[in-house]
Amino acid sequence: MAPDPFAPETIISDLQNLRGDDVDWRSGRAFSLTYLASPEAQELSERAYAMFAGENALNVAAFPSLRRMQGDVLAFVADLFHAPVGWAGFLTSGGTESLLMASYAARRRRGDVARPNIVLPTSAHAAFEKACAYFGIESRRVPVRDDWRADVAAMAAAIDNDTILLVGSAPQYPQGVVDPIAELGVVASSHDIPLHVDSCIGGMVLPFIEPFASHESRFDFLVDGVTSISVDLHKYGYAAKGSGVIIYRSRELRDHQTFVTDNWLGGLYGSSGVLGTKSGGPIASAWAMMRHFGREGYADLARRTRATTLLLADAISSIDPLFVMTKPDSTLICFGSHDDSVHTNALADALRARGWWVDRQGPPPTLHMTVSAHHEHVADRFIEDLQSCVAGVRSDAAGPGSTVGYGTVE
Ligand SMILES: Cc1ncc(COP(=O)(O)O)c(C=O)c1O
Repeated sequence: MAPDPFAPETIISDLQNLRGDDVDWRSGRAFSLTYLASPEAQELSERAYAMFAGENALNVAAFPSLRRMQGDVLAFVADLFHAPVGWAGFLTSGGTESLLMASYAARRRRGDVARPNIVLPTSAHAAFEKACAYFGIESRRVPVRDDWRADVAAMAAAIDNDTILLVGSAPQYPQGVVDPIAELGVVASSHDIPLHVDSCIGGMVLPFIEPFASHESRFDFLVDGVTSISVDLHKYGYAAKGSGVIIYRSRELRDHQTFVTDNWLGGLYGSSGVLGTKSGGPIASAWAMMRHFGREGYADLARRTRATTLLLADAISSIDPLFVMTKPDSTLICFGSHDDSVHTNALADALRARGWWVDRQGPPPTLHMTVSAHHEHVADRFIEDLQSCVAGVRSDAAGPGSTVGYGTVE
Protein backbone atom coordinates (compact mmCIF):
# COMPACT_ATOMS: atom_id res chain seq x y z
CA MET A 1 0.00 0.00 0.00
CA ALA A 2 1.32 3.47 -0.92
CA PRO A 3 2.16 5.62 2.10
CA ASP A 4 -0.45 8.20 3.07
CA PRO A 5 1.07 11.46 1.75
CA PHE A 6 -0.66 13.46 4.49
CA ALA A 7 0.44 11.29 7.40
CA PRO A 8 2.97 12.92 9.75
CA GLU A 9 5.41 10.02 9.42
CA THR A 10 5.36 10.25 5.59
CA ILE A 11 6.02 13.97 5.76
CA ILE A 12 8.86 13.52 8.23
CA SER A 13 10.34 10.79 6.09
CA ASP A 14 10.13 13.07 3.02
CA LEU A 15 11.87 15.81 4.96
CA GLN A 16 14.58 13.35 5.91
CA ASN A 17 15.03 12.46 2.25
CA LEU A 18 15.23 16.11 1.27
CA ARG A 19 18.33 16.32 3.43
CA GLY A 20 20.09 13.76 1.26
CA ASP A 21 22.45 16.21 -0.47
CA ASP A 22 22.98 18.53 2.48
CA VAL A 23 26.42 18.78 4.01
CA ASP A 24 26.55 16.42 6.98
CA TRP A 25 27.34 19.05 9.61
CA ARG A 26 26.07 16.87 12.45
CA SER A 27 29.06 14.62 11.82
CA GLY A 28 31.41 17.59 11.81
CA ARG A 29 31.76 17.89 8.04
CA ALA A 30 31.02 21.62 7.82
CA PHE A 31 33.59 24.26 8.71
CA SER A 32 31.10 27.03 8.07
CA LEU A 33 27.47 28.01 8.64
CA THR A 34 26.93 25.58 11.51
CA TYR A 35 28.32 25.06 15.00
CA LEU A 36 28.38 21.80 16.90
CA ALA A 37 29.47 21.31 20.50
CA SER A 38 28.31 17.71 20.82
CA PRO A 39 25.36 15.64 19.60
CA GLU A 40 23.93 15.69 23.17
CA ALA A 41 24.01 19.48 23.42
CA GLN A 42 22.50 19.72 19.96
CA GLU A 43 19.64 17.50 21.00
CA LEU A 44 18.97 19.59 24.11
CA SER A 45 19.02 22.77 22.03
CA GLU A 46 16.49 21.32 19.59
CA ARG A 47 14.21 20.05 22.34
CA ALA A 48 14.20 23.46 24.01
CA TYR A 49 13.56 25.09 20.63
CA ALA A 50 10.65 22.80 19.85
CA MET A 51 9.02 23.56 23.23
CA PHE A 52 8.87 27.29 22.46
CA ALA A 53 8.81 27.35 18.65
CA GLY A 54 5.23 28.67 18.59
CA GLU A 55 5.54 31.24 21.37
CA ASN A 56 5.90 34.82 20.22
CA ALA A 57 8.43 37.21 21.76
CA LEU A 58 6.77 40.16 20.02
CA ASN A 59 4.87 40.62 23.25
CA VAL A 60 6.44 39.07 26.30
CA ALA A 61 3.59 40.29 28.50
CA ALA A 62 1.75 37.24 27.18
CA PHE A 63 4.80 35.02 27.68
CA PRO A 64 6.57 35.85 30.93
CA SER A 65 8.63 32.72 30.36
CA LEU A 66 10.29 34.39 27.36
CA ARG A 67 10.83 37.63 29.27
CA ARG A 68 12.56 35.68 32.02
CA MET A 69 14.73 33.72 29.56
CA GLN A 70 15.69 36.88 27.65
CA GLY A 71 16.67 38.60 30.86
CA ASP A 72 18.76 35.66 32.03
CA VAL A 73 20.61 35.33 28.72
CA LEU A 74 21.29 39.06 28.44
CA ALA A 75 22.60 39.20 32.01
CA PHE A 76 24.91 36.25 31.34
CA VAL A 77 26.42 37.91 28.26
CA ALA A 78 26.57 41.37 29.85
CA ASP A 79 28.50 39.93 32.76
CA LEU A 80 30.92 38.16 30.44
CA PHE A 81 31.65 41.46 28.69
CA HIS A 82 31.95 43.55 31.86
CA ALA A 83 28.95 45.70 31.03
CA PRO A 84 28.75 48.54 33.57
CA VAL A 85 25.81 49.32 35.80
CA GLY A 86 23.07 50.82 33.62
CA TRP A 87 23.72 48.58 30.59
CA ALA A 88 20.79 47.56 28.42
CA GLY A 89 20.53 44.87 25.79
CA PHE A 90 18.29 43.09 23.35
CA LEU A 91 18.03 39.57 22.03
CA THR A 92 18.27 39.71 18.23
CA SER A 93 17.89 37.09 15.55
CA GLY A 94 21.67 37.05 15.06
CA GLY A 95 24.64 39.03 13.86
CA THR A 96 23.03 40.78 10.94
CA GLU A 97 20.16 42.11 13.03
CA SER A 98 22.56 43.20 15.78
CA LEU A 99 24.71 45.14 13.30
CA LEU A 100 21.62 46.65 11.69
CA MET A 101 20.45 47.76 15.11
CA ALA A 102 23.82 49.21 16.15
CA SER A 103 23.85 51.22 12.92
CA TYR A 104 20.21 52.26 13.23
CA ALA A 105 20.68 53.38 16.83
CA ALA A 106 23.77 55.38 15.85
CA ARG A 107 21.81 56.94 12.99
CA ARG A 108 18.97 57.97 15.25
CA ARG A 109 21.34 59.28 17.90
CA ARG A 110 22.60 61.75 15.30
CA GLY A 111 19.33 62.68 13.60
CA ASP A 112 20.86 66.09 12.89
CA VAL A 113 23.35 64.70 10.35
CA ALA A 114 22.10 64.84 6.76
CA ARG A 115 24.69 62.52 5.17
CA PRO A 116 25.89 60.21 7.93
CA ASN A 117 28.82 57.81 7.55
CA ILE A 118 30.19 54.83 9.43
CA VAL A 119 33.98 54.43 9.54
CA LEU A 120 34.94 50.78 9.50
CA PRO A 121 37.80 48.53 8.39
CA THR A 122 37.54 46.63 5.10
CA SER A 123 37.38 43.46 7.20
CA ALA A 124 34.17 44.36 9.08
CA HIS A 125 31.24 42.10 8.27
CA ALA A 126 29.16 42.54 5.11
CA ALA A 127 26.06 43.08 7.25
CA PHE A 128 27.31 46.65 7.81
CA GLU A 129 26.91 47.19 4.06
CA LYS A 130 23.35 45.99 4.42
CA ALA A 131 22.80 48.37 7.34
CA CYS A 132 24.18 51.28 5.33
CA ALA A 133 22.00 50.38 2.35
CA TYR A 134 18.89 50.06 4.52
CA PHE A 135 19.35 53.23 6.54
CA GLY A 136 20.90 55.58 3.99
CA ILE A 137 24.36 55.70 5.56
CA GLU A 138 27.71 55.96 3.75
CA SER A 139 29.97 52.97 4.43
CA ARG A 140 33.45 54.49 4.75
CA ARG A 141 35.74 51.48 4.47
CA VAL A 142 39.34 51.90 5.54
CA PRO A 143 41.96 49.35 4.32
CA VAL A 144 43.31 47.05 7.03
CA ARG A 145 47.02 46.86 7.96
CA ASP A 146 49.33 44.19 6.58
CA ASP A 147 48.42 41.99 9.54
CA TRP A 148 44.72 42.26 8.58
CA ARG A 149 43.85 44.32 11.67
CA ALA A 150 42.12 47.69 11.61
CA ASP A 151 44.43 50.59 10.84
CA VAL A 152 43.47 52.89 13.68
CA ALA A 153 45.38 55.95 12.47
CA ALA A 154 43.81 55.66 9.02
CA MET A 155 40.38 55.22 10.57
CA ALA A 156 40.91 58.31 12.73
CA ALA A 157 41.86 60.24 9.59
CA ALA A 158 38.65 59.11 7.87
CA ILE A 159 36.40 60.57 10.58
CA ASP A 160 34.56 63.81 9.92
CA ASN A 161 31.65 65.70 11.48
CA ASP A 162 29.18 63.33 9.81
CA THR A 163 30.68 60.15 11.28
CA ILE A 164 28.03 58.52 13.46
CA LEU A 165 29.75 55.22 14.34
CA LEU A 166 33.13 53.48 14.46
CA VAL A 167 33.43 49.73 14.15
CA GLY A 168 35.97 47.17 15.29
CA SER A 169 35.69 43.39 15.25
CA ALA A 170 36.71 40.79 17.80
CA PRO A 171 37.54 38.95 15.68
CA GLN A 172 36.81 39.93 12.11
CA TYR A 173 35.48 37.05 10.03
CA PRO A 174 37.73 36.84 6.92
CA GLN A 175 41.15 36.33 8.55
CA GLY A 176 39.97 35.75 12.11
CA VAL A 177 42.10 38.43 13.82
CA VAL A 178 41.06 40.83 16.56
CA ASP A 179 41.18 44.56 15.83
CA PRO A 180 43.04 46.89 18.25
CA ILE A 181 39.90 47.69 20.21
CA ALA A 182 41.63 49.65 23.00
CA GLU A 183 43.19 52.00 20.45
CA LEU A 184 39.88 52.39 18.65
CA GLY A 185 38.31 53.20 22.01
CA VAL A 186 40.70 56.11 22.47
CA VAL A 187 39.78 57.50 19.04
CA ALA A 188 36.06 57.01 19.69
CA SER A 189 36.19 58.74 23.07
CA SER A 190 38.22 61.66 21.83
CA HIS A 191 35.74 62.30 18.99
CA ASP A 192 32.66 61.42 21.07
CA ILE A 193 31.59 58.86 18.49
CA PRO A 194 30.04 55.51 19.52
CA LEU A 195 32.22 52.44 18.96
CA HIS A 196 30.55 49.12 18.17
CA VAL A 197 32.56 45.96 18.76
CA ASP A 198 31.38 43.17 16.50
CA SER A 199 32.11 40.08 18.55
CA CYS A 200 29.38 38.10 16.85
CA ILE A 201 31.64 35.20 15.99
CA GLY A 202 34.19 35.41 18.78
CA GLY A 203 32.15 36.56 21.72
CA MET A 204 31.68 33.17 23.29
CA VAL A 205 35.32 32.19 22.71
CA LEU A 206 37.68 35.13 23.29
CA PRO A 207 36.73 35.78 26.95
CA PHE A 208 38.02 32.27 27.71
CA ILE A 209 41.33 32.20 25.85
CA GLU A 210 44.56 34.09 26.25
CA PRO A 211 45.54 36.79 25.76
CA PHE A 212 41.98 38.10 25.47
CA ALA A 213 40.82 36.69 28.78
CA SER A 214 43.22 38.96 30.65
CA HIS A 215 42.24 42.51 31.40
CA GLU A 216 45.24 43.94 29.52
CA SER A 217 43.96 42.66 26.18
CA ARG A 218 40.28 43.34 26.68
CA PHE A 219 38.03 44.15 23.80
CA ASP A 220 34.85 44.74 25.78
CA PHE A 221 33.21 47.33 28.04
CA LEU A 222 36.40 47.54 30.11
CA VAL A 223 37.66 49.61 27.18
CA ASP A 224 36.53 53.23 27.50
CA GLY A 225 34.84 54.28 24.32
CA VAL A 226 33.20 50.93 23.55
CA THR A 227 29.49 51.72 23.50
CA SER A 228 27.94 48.51 22.16
CA ILE A 229 28.91 44.89 21.57
CA SER A 230 27.24 42.16 19.53
CA VAL A 231 27.62 38.47 20.38
CA ASP A 232 25.90 35.62 18.57
CA LEU A 233 24.63 32.74 20.62
CA HIS A 234 23.79 30.79 17.49
CA LYS A 235 27.51 30.65 16.74
CA TYR A 236 29.83 29.68 19.61
CA GLY A 237 26.99 29.76 22.14
CA TYR A 238 25.89 26.62 20.26
CA ALA A 239 22.24 27.73 20.36
CA ALA A 240 19.74 27.31 17.54
CA LYS A 241 19.83 29.68 14.58
CA GLY A 242 18.11 32.96 15.33
CA SER A 243 19.75 33.95 18.60
CA GLY A 244 22.08 36.89 19.00
CA VAL A 245 22.67 39.58 21.59
CA ILE A 246 23.43 43.27 21.43
CA ILE A 247 24.45 45.04 24.63
CA TYR A 248 24.73 48.82 24.99
CA ARG A 249 26.72 50.60 27.66
CA SER A 250 23.62 52.56 28.64
CA ARG A 251 19.86 52.43 28.28
CA GLU A 252 19.94 55.84 26.65
CA LEU A 253 22.01 54.40 23.77
CA ARG A 254 19.82 51.34 23.48
CA ASP A 255 16.64 53.42 23.40
CA HIS A 256 17.70 54.74 20.00
CA GLN A 257 17.09 51.29 18.53
CA THR A 258 13.55 51.03 19.88
CA PHE A 259 10.80 51.66 17.40
CA VAL A 260 7.34 52.79 18.55
CA THR A 261 4.35 53.90 16.52
CA ASP A 262 0.62 54.36 16.88
CA ASN A 263 0.19 55.66 13.33
CA TRP A 264 -2.21 52.93 12.22
CA LEU A 265 -5.52 51.49 13.36
CA GLY A 266 -4.06 48.73 15.55
CA GLY A 267 -2.93 50.76 18.56
CA LEU A 268 0.46 51.19 20.15
CA TYR A 269 3.12 49.06 18.47
CA GLY A 270 6.54 48.88 20.05
CA SER A 271 9.38 46.77 18.76
CA SER A 272 13.05 46.83 19.65
CA GLY A 273 14.44 44.96 16.68
CA VAL A 274 13.91 44.30 12.99
CA LEU A 275 11.46 41.47 13.52
CA GLY A 276 7.84 41.76 14.53
CA THR A 277 6.68 38.27 15.32
CA LYS A 278 9.61 36.44 16.82
CA SER A 279 9.73 32.76 17.68
CA GLY A 280 10.44 31.78 21.25
CA GLY A 281 12.42 28.79 19.91
CA PRO A 282 15.83 30.45 19.60
CA ILE A 283 15.38 32.16 22.97
CA ALA A 284 14.62 28.87 24.72
CA SER A 285 17.51 27.19 22.93
CA ALA A 286 19.93 29.95 23.98
CA TRP A 287 18.71 29.72 27.56
CA ALA A 288 19.08 25.95 27.57
CA MET A 289 22.64 26.13 26.20
CA MET A 290 23.57 28.78 28.75
CA ARG A 291 22.25 26.57 31.56
CA HIS A 292 23.82 23.44 30.11
CA PHE A 293 27.33 24.86 29.69
CA GLY A 294 27.55 27.83 32.02
CA ARG A 295 30.80 29.78 32.09
CA GLU A 296 32.89 26.75 32.91
CA GLY A 297 31.43 24.71 30.08
CA TYR A 298 31.95 27.49 27.55
CA ALA A 299 35.51 27.96 28.80
CA ASP A 300 36.19 24.28 28.25
CA LEU A 301 34.65 24.32 24.76
CA ALA A 302 36.63 27.43 23.84
CA ARG A 303 39.97 25.98 24.96
CA ARG A 304 39.36 22.67 23.20
CA THR A 305 38.22 24.37 20.01
CA ARG A 306 41.23 26.66 20.12
CA ALA A 307 43.55 23.65 20.46
CA THR A 308 41.90 21.98 17.45
CA THR A 309 42.20 25.22 15.47
CA LEU A 310 45.94 25.51 16.10
CA LEU A 311 46.43 21.86 15.25
CA LEU A 312 44.51 22.24 11.99
CA ALA A 313 46.33 25.46 11.10
CA ASP A 314 49.70 23.78 11.64
CA ALA A 315 48.72 20.76 9.60
CA ILE A 316 47.38 22.91 6.75
CA SER A 317 50.54 25.00 6.57
CA SER A 318 52.62 21.84 6.31
CA ILE A 319 50.83 20.81 3.09
CA ASP A 320 52.59 22.20 0.02
CA PRO A 321 51.53 24.65 -1.55
CA LEU A 322 49.08 25.75 1.12
CA PHE A 323 49.75 28.52 3.60
CA VAL A 324 47.82 29.88 6.54
CA MET A 325 47.27 33.58 6.09
CA THR A 326 47.95 34.50 9.70
CA LYS A 327 48.11 32.73 13.03
CA PRO A 328 44.48 32.51 14.21
CA ASP A 329 43.63 34.75 17.17
CA SER A 330 40.52 32.72 17.84
CA THR A 331 38.97 29.67 16.19
CA LEU A 332 38.87 30.78 12.55
CA ILE A 333 41.39 29.72 9.91
CA CYS A 334 42.08 31.45 6.61
CA PHE A 335 44.33 29.67 4.14
CA GLY A 336 45.46 30.07 0.57
CA SER A 337 47.65 28.46 -2.05
CA HIS A 338 51.05 29.61 -3.31
CA ASP A 339 50.62 27.65 -6.51
CA ASP A 340 48.28 28.69 -9.33
CA SER A 341 47.78 25.06 -10.26
CA VAL A 342 46.01 24.50 -6.92
CA HIS A 343 43.18 27.01 -7.01
CA THR A 344 41.37 27.46 -3.72
CA ASN A 345 37.91 27.18 -5.30
CA ALA A 346 38.90 23.93 -7.01
CA LEU A 347 40.15 22.67 -3.66
CA ALA A 348 36.81 23.57 -2.05
CA ASP A 349 35.03 21.67 -4.84
CA ALA A 350 37.22 18.61 -4.24
CA LEU A 351 36.59 18.77 -0.50
CA ARG A 352 32.85 19.08 -1.14
CA ALA A 353 32.99 15.95 -3.26
CA ARG A 354 34.39 14.19 -0.19
CA GLY A 355 31.62 15.58 1.99
CA TRP A 356 33.44 18.58 3.53
CA TRP A 357 32.31 22.20 3.40
CA VAL A 358 34.69 25.15 3.72
CA ASP A 359 33.97 28.77 2.76
CA ARG A 360 35.44 30.42 -0.31
CA GLN A 361 36.32 34.06 0.11
CA GLY A 362 38.42 36.97 -1.03
CA PRO A 363 40.12 39.15 -1.89
CA PRO A 364 42.63 37.57 -1.78
CA PRO A 365 41.22 34.19 -2.89
CA THR A 366 41.37 32.01 0.18
CA LEU A 367 39.40 29.36 2.06
CA HIS A 368 37.90 29.91 5.47
CA MET A 369 37.22 27.47 8.26
CA THR A 370 35.08 28.07 11.32
CA VAL A 371 36.18 25.42 13.79
CA SER A 372 33.66 24.01 16.31
CA ALA A 373 34.29 21.99 19.46
CA HIS A 374 33.11 18.79 17.79
CA HIS A 375 35.75 19.09 15.06
CA GLU A 376 38.35 17.66 17.44
CA HIS A 377 36.89 14.27 16.47
CA VAL A 378 37.33 14.74 12.72
CA ALA A 379 40.42 16.95 12.41
CA ASP A 380 42.73 14.06 11.42
CA ARG A 381 40.35 12.81 8.76
CA PHE A 382 39.96 16.30 7.35
CA ILE A 383 43.72 16.75 7.02
CA GLU A 384 44.07 13.38 5.27
CA ASP A 385 41.35 14.36 2.82
CA LEU A 386 42.82 17.81 2.32
CA GLN A 387 46.18 16.25 1.40
CA SER A 388 44.49 13.95 -1.12
CA CYS A 389 42.44 16.81 -2.53
CA VAL A 390 45.53 18.99 -3.08
CA ALA A 391 47.22 16.12 -4.92
CA GLY A 392 44.07 15.43 -6.94
CA VAL A 393 43.48 19.06 -7.95
CA ARG A 394 47.10 19.37 -9.04
CA SER A 395 47.22 16.18 -11.07
CA ASP A 396 43.82 16.77 -12.69
CA ALA A 397 44.82 20.36 -13.56
CA ALA A 398 41.39 21.12 -12.13
CA GLY A 399 41.34 24.80 -13.11
CA PRO A 400 39.84 27.63 -11.10
CA GLY A 401 36.88 25.67 -9.67
CA SER A 402 33.41 27.03 -9.00
CA THR A 403 32.51 30.21 -7.21
CA VAL A 404 30.10 29.92 -4.31
CA GLY A 405 29.48 33.09 -2.31
CA TYR A 406 29.47 33.43 1.45
CA GLY A 407 25.73 33.90 1.16
CA THR A 408 23.61 32.93 -1.81
CA VAL A 409 21.08 34.94 -3.83
CA GLU A 410 18.11 32.80 -4.77
C1 LIG B 1 32.06 38.98 12.66
C2 LIG B 1 30.66 38.68 12.19
N1 LIG B 1 29.71 39.61 12.29
C3 LIG B 1 28.46 39.40 11.86
C4 LIG B 1 28.09 38.21 11.30
C5 LIG B 1 26.69 38.02 10.78
O1 LIG B 1 26.01 37.08 11.52
P1 LIG B 1 24.69 36.36 11.01
O2 LIG B 1 25.08 35.55 9.82
O3 LIG B 1 24.28 35.58 12.19
O4 LIG B 1 23.68 37.37 10.65
C6 LIG B 1 29.05 37.20 11.18
C7 LIG B 1 28.73 35.92 10.58
O5 LIG B 1 29.54 35.03 10.45
C8 LIG B 1 30.37 37.44 11.64
O6 LIG B 1 31.34 36.52 11.52
